[in-house]
Amino acid sequence: MDFELKSLSPEQSVDLAVDALLVLVPDNLPKAQGKALTALSELIEDAAQRGDLETGVGKCLSCYRPAGLKAARVLLARVGDGSPAAVRKTVVAAMSSLKAPQVRKLGLLLNLLADSDATVQAAMTGCADASYVYTHSKPSAKARPLHKVVVGVGKAEAVRTGFQQGKGLVAGVELAKEWANRPGNMATPSLLAEAARKLGRLPNIKTEVMGPKEVAALKMGAFMAVAQGSAEPLRFIVLRYNGAPRTEAPVVLVGKGITFDTGGISIKPAAEMDEMKFDMGGAASVLGTFAALAELQPTINVVGLIPSCENMPDGMAVKPGDVVTSMSGQTIEILNTDAEGRLILCDALTYAARFKPRAVVDIATLTGACVIALGAVRSGLFSADDALAQALQTAGEAALDPCWRMPLDDEYAEGLKSNFADMGNVAGRAAGAVTAAKFLQKFTGELAWAHLDIASTAWKSGAAKGATGRPVPLLVHYLLGQAEQAKAPKKTARRKA
Ligand code: BES
Ligand code: MN
Ligand code: ZN
Repeated sequence: MDFELKSLSPEQSVDLAVDALLVLVPDNLPKAQGKALTALSELIEDAAQRGDLETGVGKCLSCYRPAGLKAARVLLARVGDGSPAAVRKTVVAAMSSLKAPQVRKLGLLLNLLADSDATVQAAMTGCADASYVYTHSKPSAKARPLHKVVVGVGKAEAVRTGFQQGKGLVAGVELAKEWANRPGNMATPSLLAEAARKLGRLPNIKTEVMGPKEVAALKMGAFMAVAQGSAEPLRFIVLRYNGAPRTEAPVVLVGKGITFDTGGISIKPAAEMDEMKFDMGGAASVLGTFAALAELQPTINVVGLIPSCENMPDGMAVKPGDVVTSMSGQTIEILNTDAEGRLILCDALTYAARFKPRAVVDIATLTGACVIALGAVRSGLFSADDALAQALQTAGEAALDPCWRMPLDDEYAEGLKSNFADMGNVAGRAAGAVTAAKFLQKFTGELAWAHLDIASTAWKSGAAKGATGRPVPLLVHYLLGQAEQAKAPKKTARRKA
């Protein structure tokens, strides 16, 4: 889908040649007068006065061939106070009536709102999200008819940054959705590695893929234990984005890449087990973030690590009670083979240290407990580093992809004690999302580390089952913020001294 940014006066809006025009109308739109009076402003005022265009976020009025406008389909949509969140919500709601195959070129009119980067981004991501169509394994689904979106604002130059970032975000979210949506047999560890290799052809990105031999040489005993029950060979994917001098410490992103989670010998119940194809949502968000980096080219270095395998029951599979040695040297009693995410992540976290990173963020569909704790609204955020936690929280708010900080008190690690190894891989049922984070923390040493549990935010269940592309927007905003900060490091250092 192609976006174009255009400065549009009220008069020009009326003449925009598009298949459909989506006009975002704030509740408190001042009455147009004199020269500013156009066919569109008259239509809005008339509809509002007669009560056909109610106020309130997402309230729509659909018009066909209204007099004086070039576009055949015109949809007026209320955006309440015009906040970015309201804009996003409204665009998503409005797009449901703009899915006709005739709507190939859409005008997204934001010029009745104040020009703002956040507004433009909210409108673009909402528009892309709502028009996405999954077709990879469903040829009967009609591909997204929408090809072009003209974003009309007051002054294009005022929102050029937001527009560019919006394009990067859309590219990243769409790649993440696409890979997370693909079924387990069409998104194997090897196929994820291929997708990463393809990203490696983009400017400033390099990809390296390791297989069972290399991972064995690295002594990643926990990761290998999860993979050993599957006929699909594991892959350890290393992506690098170099947008800053090589001397700059990178941010490392670690994405859980379980391409299917049966639970292993501690097998899951059959109901909804299909959804465990989304268990590589963390990995997909790393791939998506790299796609966005390729588009945006910020001055920062980023490393992406993806441990990827299936979790299967088999004669070769790891058994409850088995003890394995992680890359860190710490031994783990695998009490529950369904707590496999932490086993592949712990070795990747140990590996992350070699990049001497400024921060490490892992992203994982880690626990059902996090779904219970936070639902689909916010991802779980765990970090002992206040500055890092703050930066991620702020990024989440700005990106409309929010998270919520959870505790990491040492008492939560009590249940991980084992009589037969340095630790067990599960604690009791209580605070399951926190004890999982405490397990990971044992592998982070002195690193500035944060963990995002996206079990409830990476995909939707039910009739609208599908990947969301979260938390790509959060991650991209965070990385862009880090790139900004890196531009003025001396200032901060001096202020501290
Ligand atoms: N991939 C699951 C987590 C999950 C479950 C995500 C449901 C979304 C919905 C993870 O590997 C898992 O199975 N976790 C277990 C941990 C338990 C055995 C301690 C869980 O949450 O039940
Ligand atoms: Mn599991
Ligand atoms: Zn899992």
